[in-house]
Amino acid sequence: MKSSLLFIFGFCVQFVHLQKTGSGSGSGGNLRLCLVAERGPLRRGETFCPILDEEDSGVECVLGVDQMDCLRRISKSTVDFGVFSPEDLIAAQWANIDVLVTNEIRLRRRPYERSIVSVVNRRIIPKYDSSLESVLRNTTLCHPGVDPYTIRPLSDTLSHYLESLVLPRTCDPKLTLEENRLKSLSSFFYQACKAGPWVPFRDGDAILKNKYKSLCAACANPNCEMQDKYWGPIGNLQCMSDGVGDVMWGDLDDVKTYFGVSKTDISLTNNNFAYLCRDGSTQSLNTTEPCVWLHRPWPVVIAKRKAAAAVNELISSFAETDFFDNHWKGALAYLLEMRQLSTSMHPAKNPLDYLASAEGFREAYSQSGCDPPRHITFCTKSLLEKNKCDWLSEAGAVYGVNPPLQCVVRRDVAECLRAVESGEVDVTGGSPDVLVQATRDYNLQPLIYEVTPLSQTQMNTVLAYVKKDSMLDKMADLRGKRAYFPNYDGIAWHSVLNYIKRSENLNCFESMHGYFGEICAPGVEKMNITANLVEEFSRNCILSDGKVLSGELAALRALVAGRVDVAFVSMNTVSKYENKLINELWAIDGTVALKPICPKDNPVHCALSWSHLGHMYASKTIKPMRRDEITTVFTQLDKLFGRHYANGMFKMYGLYNHELDILFNNNTVTLSTKDILNSDLYIIPFNFERSLNFTHDSCQVSDTTAASGSRMASTFLLLYVVVYTLFR
Ligand SMILES: *[C@@H]1O[C@H](CO)[C@@H](O)[C@H](O)[C@H]1NC(C)=O
Ligand SMILES: *[C@@H]1O[C@H](CO)[C@@H](O)[C@H](O)[C@H]1NC(C)=O
Ligand SMILES: *[C@@H]1O[C@H](CO)[C@@H](O)[C@H](O)[C@H]1NC(C)=O
Ligand SMILES: *[C@@H]1O[C@H](CO)[C@@H](O)[C@H](O)[C@H]1NC(C)=O
Ligand SMILES: *[C@@H]1O[C@H](CO)[C@@H](O)[C@H](O)[C@H]1NC(C)=O
Repeated sequence: MKSSLLFIFGFCVQFVHLQKTGSGSGSGGNLRLCLVAERGPLRRGETFCPILDEEDSGVECVLGVDQMDCLRRISKSTVDFGVFSPEDLIAAQWANIDVLVTNEIRLRRRPYERSIVSVVNRRIIPKYDSSLESVLRNTTLCHPGVDPYTIRPLSDTLSHYLESLVLPRTCDPKLTLEENRLKSLSSFFYQACKAGPWVPFRDGDAILKNKYKSLCAACANPNCEMQDKYWGPIGNLQCMSDGVGDVMWGDLDDVKTYFGVSKTDISLTNNNFAYLCRDGSTQSLNTTEPCVWLHRPWPVVIAKRKAAAAVNELISSFAETDFFDNHWKGALAYLLEMRQLSTSMHPAKNPLDYLASAEGFREAYSQSGCDPPRHITFCTKSLLEKNKCDWLSEAGAVYGVNPPLQCVVRRDVAECLRAVESGEVDVTGGSPDVLVQATRDYNLQPLIYEVTPLSQTQMNTVLAYVKKDSMLDKMADLRGKRAYFPNYDGIAWHSVLNYIKRSENLNCFESMHGYFGEICAPGVEKMNITANLVEEFSRNCILSDGKVLSGELAALRALVAGRVDVAFVSMNTVSKYENKLINELWAIDGTVALKPICPKDNPVHCALSWSHLGHMYASKTIKPMRRDEITTVFTQLDKLFGRHYANGMFKMYGLYNHELDILFNNNTVTLSTKDILNSDLYIIPFNFERSLNFTHDSCQVSDTTAASGSRMASTFLLLYVVVYTLFR
C-alpha cells in the first residue's frame, strides 16, 4: 500500500500545518469525514485517508456502511460531514436530520447535474396554442424505459413525476399502484414503447405486459425488454428519429448530442422536432436555453449545523492547484470526488432550500398518493429491526418504491406470525425454523425467499454432525444415540424425523419416541404438555440460569462437550466453529474434530435437508393484487439496495448499527418469489421447502401449540402420545 501511495504522490514528504478550527468531533477538534468505503474509486479510503492523518490536516476519515449510516452518524454527532446525493438529502430531510448544505460538488461547469427535457415530433404540434394535455393525448410516447439496476434513465420517482404532469391519476382499489399507473398511461397515449421490466419479478411482468399491450406496441420488438432498440436514454431518441413516436422525455445532454451529431441525416433535421414545454408551448431545437421539465442537482457536502462554518471554510479554501497536490488537500479532494472548485453556499443552506432551486426536483418528492393511502406493514421483532426497517422504508420511498413499507414491532416471531394471520399486518420475516409453524399453525405462506449462492456454507442446511473419533459412520448408527436439535418443531427436527421415517420405515410416533436414546428438543419445555413428555424431550439439554439453551450453537456445544453423540446443525455453523469464529468460551478452547454423517441418498452434499436462509410470510388468504404489490415492493427494494446496485444509499444485507443479520441475512444475495424453487439450479437433493406438506402428520409432540391449523392428524397423534405415556 505504501508503494502505491508513493506511486500516486511522488516523493514529496513535506508537512503542511493548518491551524485547527477545533469545531469537529474528532480528536483535538479534527473534522470527521464520513465515507462509504465501497463507493467511488476503488479503495480510495485505504489509500487516501492515511495521508490526512500523517499530515496533520485537521480532518480524519470514518468509514460508514452506506450513506444512510453516515447520516445517522452525523445526527448522532460522531462525524461532521460527508458528500451526499440529492436523493440522500431528501432522505435526510424526511428523517428530520439537522444538517446544512455547505458546498456543491460540480463535475462539470453547469448549474445542474442533469436536466430533463421533452422533445416532440412537429407533426403533433397543433396550429393554435393548446394545453399540454391536448397536445399529447392519443399520441405515441417513446418512454425512457425501465432499468431496475440503475436510476438512469430515470428513477421511478422522477419518472412518475413526469408522467403525473400529463396523466390523470387513477386509484382503482382493485389494482396495484403500479398497475394503476400503467392503466392511466395506456389510456392517455395511443401507443408507447416502455421497455424493460415493469415489475421486477418475471410472472408479474408478463401478466402486465399482456394486459397493457399498447405500451409496448411502439417498441422494435414486442417482447418489450431492456434489449429493445428503443429502450433507454438513446433508444428513445432513436424511437423519435425513426418517426415511430411523437414525444419523449430525456436528458438534455443526450438530446443535444444526438440531434447535434446526426445533423447530416436528412430525416433528423431539427425542423422535424421541437422542445415541448410544461405549458404546452414549443421551442426550436436550436435554442440554447430550452425549457426544462426537471433538474437534478449536483452532489453536495453536508455538515452538522455546529461544524457547517468550519466545513465550508475548509472546502472553500481549495485552489485549482490543490487537486493535483501530493498532499492532504489532493487526498481530500479525491475523497470528496471534487474535480473542480466547489460552489460554496453563503450561508450554508438547509436541504429543502437548496433543493428548491432545482425546478421540479422537490415537487417530485411531494406527489400525493392514492386516497386512502396504501402501505405494506412489515412486522419486526426488535427495536433494532424496526429502526433498520424504517430506514429501508425511507430509502425505498425516495426511489419511488410504492406502496411504502410501514414498520411495526412485536415482542417475538410468534407474535408477528399471529399479527399476520389476524390481518393486523401484511408480512413478517422468519428463519427456516418457523416455516412449519407459520404454514401449519398460522395459515401463512412464504412469499419471498432469501436466496444465497448454492454453497453449502451459505445456504441453510441440516447435517448430522458427530465427533470425528466416534465409531458412528452411517445414519443407521444413530439409533439409540443421544441427539440435540437446535429447536423443537424447527427445520432440523422435521428433516431428521422425516428422514428416519423414510429410511427406517417408521411412523412419526416411532421416530420421536424410542429411536434415539435421548433427545433434547429446546422449546418443548415451554409447551403445555405433561411433565413426563417435557422430561423425555429435554433430558440432556444444556441449562443456563435454569433455562434450556436453544439454537445451533447450543446443539454444537453439547456435541463438543460430549454431552450428546449427534447434533443436527448447519454446515455454516460448524464451519464457523472450525474457523474459530464463534466468540464463546467453549468454542475458543481448543477444537474438537467433527465429521458429518452423510445419508446414503445424498453422499455428495451430505445434508439431510437444505433451504433458503429466510422467508417473508403473508397470509394464505391474501388477495392476488395485494400479493403482487408485496412481491413488487420487496423485489424492488432488493434491486435498489441489495447486492447489485452501487448507489450506496442503503445496504439491506449489510451491517446495521455494527450488527450482522438484522432483518435480512448477511449472506443473502437476492430476494425471489417461490419461482426460485422451480429453477434448474436446484439439483441438490432434499430441498425442505419443496417437500413442505403439512396437511398430514407432521411429527408434533402434542396438539396443544398455538392457533388453528390441521388438528385432525395431530389429535390422533396426541392420543398416541397419551396412551404411550400412560403405559410406559
Ligand atoms: C388516436 O390516434 C390513432 C392513430 O393516430 C387514430 O387511429 C385514432 O382514431 C385516435 N383516437 C382518438 C380517440 O382520437
Ligand atoms: C433556429 O432556427 C431557425 C430556423 O429554423 C432560425 O430562424 C433561428 O434563427 C435559429 N435560432 C438560433 C438561435 O440559431
Ligand atoms: C394446559 O392444558 C390443559 C389441558 O388441555 C388445560 O386445561 C389448561 O388450561 C392448559 N393451560 C394453559 C396455560 O394453556
Ligand atoms: C457478509 O456478506 C459478505 C458478502 O456476501 C461477505 O463478504 C462477508 O464475509 C459476510 N460477513 C460475514 C461476517 O459473514
Ligand atoms: C400432502 O400429503 C398428503 C398425504 O400424503 C397428500 O395426499 C397430498 O397430495 C400432499 N400434498 C401436496 C401438495 O403434495
